Amino acid sequence: MGQGILTPPGAADVDALLADAGLERRGGSLFMAGVPLSAVADAVGTPAYVYNAEAVRVHYAALDAALAPIPHRICYAVKANGNLAVLRLLRDLGAGADIVSAGELARTAAAGFPAERVVFSGVGKTADELRLAVRAGIGHINIESGEELELLAAIASETGCHVRVGIRVNPDVTANTHPYISTGKSGIKFGVPTDQVVDAARVVAAHPALELTSIAMHLGSQLTDTGPFQEGIRRLLGLVAEVRSAGISTVRVLDVGGGLGIRYSAETPMDPAAFAAAVLPLVRPAGLTLYVEPGRFLVGSAGVLLTSALYRKRSGGKSFVVVDAGMNDLVRPSHYHAYHEIVELEAANRPVAPVDVVGPVCETGDFLALDRPLPALERSERVAVLGAGAYGFVMASNYNARPRPPEVLVDGGRFAVARPREELTELFRGERVTPLD
Ligand code: LLP
Repeated sequence: MGQGILTPPGAADVDALLADAGLERRGGSLFMAGVPLSAVADAVGTPAYVYNAEAVRVHYAALDAALAPIPHRICYAVKANGNLAVLRLLRDLGAGADIVSAGELARTAAAGFPAERVVFSGVGKTADELRLAVRAGIGHINIESGEELELLAAIASETGCHVRVGIRVNPDVTANTHPYISTGKSGIKFGVPTDQVVDAARVVAAHPALELTSIAMHLGSQLTDTGPFQEGIRRLLGLVAEVRSAGISTVRVLDVGGGLGIRYSAETPMDPAAFAAAVLPLVRPAGLTLYVEPGRFLVGSAGVLLTSALYRKRSGGKSFVVVDAGMNDLVRPSHYHAYHEIVELEAANRPVAPVDVVGPVCETGDFLALDRPLPALERSERVAVLGAGAYGFVMASNYNARPRPPEVLVDGGRFAVARPREELTELFRGERVTPLD
């Protein structure tokens, strides 16, 4: 499974994981882009998310350079990490944005993305969300059903706005990843089935305020093979040809979605050059602009979650270390059985032994790692959970009334809080003790 499982085959490639994140050891201490992570933990406490701006730039530049031979746009999938500082960084690199909600639209606006660089995907956009996006004049709206298209047409008529439309196709391609994040197969909720695409294109073309500019797909997340992309693109290009033969010649974008996989353990991540070599020769002859919507690839490796050991215990013949980050802070291990490497902030060359790294939340499924070979951590000792830059903070919750952690940006040898730790009073802001009085 490409997603990363709890006990991956073979040992994690820790050196490569550190390099992906822009982390290095100096005298045993873990540094991120020149900043000792212990200093960050001293300043903001734990748990805390820390993002390396330079690592984001490196990943963006590698993909942008690989796609350079053809007209393209990298629309960052905001759902992976919507922190405004991360968004501003990507905006400044020239990225567009892929959004799925009014909240993400508001975030991209707050971070200064030009509306025309924003693409709106998602299977359940509400009328209010569509109206906001139409009024904002975003790049295009990817519709995912005939009924959504009807609603969008009505909103276009009502507002009098010109709306660029994409059709997100369900290309019926199997992607080798965790079933929860495989999104391009027939029989799941995403996209318009291939046999309904030309009809949908006709509906768009017949409406005076709608223009069909894009044909799109998104196959799934954490994909490490190029094969499914090629298969999906061939299907999309077949549909573009059908749409063109139906007399509709406005399609200028082929949006192949996100999903480029990264290293969490020992997997071979998607190499941008290999991705480009597989994809560009297919797209180039069609004369279309290529859109990609990566989230994880740009930010996943660039972030860590710092957490401290609270208590050690032995029970039922097993060792546990209870840390101060739980499933409410980073849900991926519990939810997908995802593997996240855990490294000491101060390496001390100690022997390792298997331990369950568990959080404070009142659920047995609250763990960051099971049976993980780790040195015997001291109480209060801090560790970094790697690969936490994507689908980390954004999936955090206040379960067990736990404030969400701060987010810190590291850049140019300095660090700063991009979002403070939530205050206890924020947990019940707006709530009323006696709402009926
Ligand atoms: N475009 C669309 C339409 C998507 O639905 C997604 C992700 C992306 C782009 C970005 O995918 P990426 O490049 O990040 O793989 N919470 C899960 C991942 C869910 C992804 C959902 N869609 C996880 O923690 O693994």
